[in-house]
Amino acid sequence: MLLYAKSPILHSKNEFERNYIMSIYLDNAATSYPKPDCVLEAMSYYFKDIGANSGRSAHKQAQEASRLVFEAREGIAKLIGAKDSSRIIFTSNATEGLNTAILGSLEKGNRVITTSMEHNSVMRPLRFLEKNRGIKVDVIKCSEKGILNLDDIKKKITKDTKLIVATTASNVVGTLLPIQNIARIAKEYNILFLVDAAQTIGSIPIDVEESQIDMLAFSGHKGLLGPQGTGCLYIKEDIKLTPLKFGGTGSKSEFETQPDFLPDKYESGTPNLIGITGLGASVKFILDKGVENIREKEKKLTEYLLQELQKIKKVIIYGTQDSQKQTAVVSINIKDMESSDVGDILDRDYEIGVRCGLHCAPIAHQTIGTFPSGTVRISLGYFNTEADIDYLLRAIRKIIQ
Ligand SMILES: Cc1ncc(COP(=O)(O)O)c(C=O)c1O
Repeated sequence: MLLYAKSPILHSKNEFERNYIMSIYLDNAATSYPKPDCVLEAMSYYFKDIGANSGRSAHKQAQEASRLVFEAREGIAKLIGAKDSSRIIFTSNATEGLNTAILGSLEKGNRVITTSMEHNSVMRPLRFLEKNRGIKVDVIKCSEKGILNLDDIKKKITKDTKLIVATTASNVVGTLLPIQNIARIAKEYNILFLVDAAQTIGSIPIDVEESQIDMLAFSGHKGLLGPQGTGCLYIKEDIKLTPLKFGGTGSKSEFETQPDFLPDKYESGTPNLIGITGLGASVKFILDKGVENIREKEKKLTEYLLQELQKIKKVIIYGTQDSQKQTAVVSINIKDMESSDVGDILDRDYEIGVRCGLHCAPIAHQTIGTFPSGTVRISLGYFNTEADIDYLLRAIRKIIQ
């Protein structure tokens, strides 16, 4: 893999030497690495051999670009159980999808219910609307382990509640939220339900039809193993949002007003074609492997990591400490050490990449009691192995010594 050739600066010679820049990558909750070869090949094919815009011109290269986009959309629809792939909107990341859904659905006087495990990609647009559009945000406080009590949601519902927004899993401690049960409550009270699946897409199965999810936003570059600059928003039929952007779509060009059909209504401007092509390939890779199998593999690795961390005295582990109830994200601290110092040593002395601090989710850290210092977040991915975990554990033991 030529693209991942060793860097003379970042790569020191040691027994763990590998063929990519960071020896042990444990930051998959931020973005996944490495990507399957088929992703690189697809992107290279688009860039070298196609290069044209999609949905606009009629020449052969443009037709091929449109086909690549269509196939990627179909793959995503299959992955999330959406019957109609035109309800999948390509975005630049999960944040854009969440913003489209939140800013596009709420009006003055509306109330929205969310949880205390959310990422700032949910909290910031909500706080913006609270300040500038007169909406009210009701936050349900989860337990110290990140567990949500469903009764607390029911208690907060009022006649003005228009939307419930919840993450499928915390990006800080990995705790899974009871999405299907929340969806049932939302249905019962006729409230829109927006799900942030950034942390579980590609590694935990989801079916938007079966779970009656109204809107589902997610990244393409995390569990889906696609390139950065990709994400999606699924919007159920009959849900009308005000678009975030207006402009050229290649359709209905005779009108100066935005087309009202999907996906064009929410996809103005030239799309990220190289990214979408890569995402199409990564989704195919995931469908071939099977999301259940990916989940099983990550669950086993998480179980092993948790079990071994529990044996190290000075390590504090946050969250459920139960691989059935969480993703492959494990947050820890070492007693009497700053999380940022631990991260620096892991990087500098052991070439292990983790993320420290608040992980763009200050409210989640307030919930688990680690605000403002944060935690050391170890996030495993599909390509990690038990050997990676063993090496990390040895490094942690050495740091403690
Ligand atoms: C739970 C959650 N939501 C949203 C996001 C934002 O994702 P993106 O970077 O694709 O916008 C993240 C990213 O870490 C996340 O963990």
